[in-house]
Amino acid sequence: HSSHDQVSLNAYEWLTKFYHHVLEHTKEGQEAKKYLIDRGVNEETIKKFQLGYAPSNSDLTIDFLHKKSFDSDELVESGLLGATDKQKPYDRFRGRVLFPIRNHLGKTVGFGGRAIHEGNEPKYLNSTDSRLFQKSKLLFNFDLARSEMKKVNQAVLFEGYMDVITADQHGILNGVASLGTSLTEHQAALIKRYVEEVVVSYDGDQAGIEAAIKAADLFHKVGLDVRVATIPENLDPDSYIQKYGGDRFKQEIINQSATYVSFYMQVLKRSYNLSVEAELMNYINAVIEKIATLDRAVDRDHYANELATNYQLSVDTIREEIQTLRQKMT
Ligand code: UTP
Ligand code: MN
Ligand code: MN
Ligand code: MN
Ligand code: MN
Repeated sequence: HSSHDQVSLNAYEWLTKFYHHVLEHTKEGQEAKKYLIDRGVNEETIKKFQLGYAPSNSDLTIDFLHKKSFDSDELVESGLLGATDKQKPYDRFRGRVLFPIRNHLGKTVGFGGRAIHEGNEPKYLNSTDSRLFQKSKLLFNFDLARSEMKKVNQAVLFEGYMDVITADQHGILNGVASLGTSLTEHQAALIKRYVEEVVVSYDGDQAGIEAAIKAADLFHKVGLDVRVATIPENLDPDSYIQKYGGDRFKQEIINQSATYVSFYMQVLKRSYNLSVEAELMNYINAVIEKIATLDRAVDRDHYANELATNYQLSVDTIREEIQTLRQKMT
């Protein structure tokens, strides 16, 4: 097992260099390079993240690997290369801009590849899972973000590679993203080892909001203080930062992000018609259930007060209700 892993690690290291070289210095890479520059990714960032391009003629990749003495059968077996039956191997990422995905040691263990032409599906293609590359356990940029996370005692969870990269270019260095799959408890626990607070900063569309709720619940479950950011104008963090800059993102999005319960209050509101008495009561009960899950008594009190004030309720009744729910929980 481990010798195969070593071969894969070597292959990934060479491939990272190869794809990066193609992007930076070859004619094949020019269009992809322009694509990144047009999206506002600068030279320094391209280098820092070792962004690359897989030539659309996949023989170039295969030839390179052969020159480095890799055996294609083994690379096909480990999922590094594609192959249709016993046909000749091909580069699954051909024609895509590549985002190397590194493990906690900074070694490339997989790629995310973006199509550079609209309409090419899928938009992003990721390496398939293997022993080295487990999407449920890795986080994009975790190796680099870790020290900043520790320093500021906060992590930012983004949806996409481009969000992380653009944020980083604009001075937000504590950003990570999951790899095209929903956040897992394992990933939440990993972040918990470095920070007390996490800000979920997903896209402002419906899919993003739903995914943010799930991520926020997981973070809350592992004991993190959770905030959820809201991005206006249907932008995502990448496009927001490209439009307004990193300082404004920090000040108006990160710093203004809602606490876990406030976010729930906002989101739940949409599911109830609060002008109908019975629905209002259901809404209030749903919020109380959320408040009851909070670990700290001061936090529970804070939201009990807020809820009481907002809906002219007796705070004592809310507190009692919370206590009853908590007794049931244990
Ligand atoms: P988005 O659709 O929000 O893409 O997917 P994006 O990150 O904003 O990408 P750009 O700006 O159009 O380039 C968020 C993340 O979901 C995963 C990728 O990890 C992506 O970064 N994803 C998305 C896939 O794995 N496959 C897809 O086809 C699309
Ligand atoms: Mn061969
Ligand atoms: Mn999205
Ligand atoms: Mn997006
Ligand atoms: Mn985007």
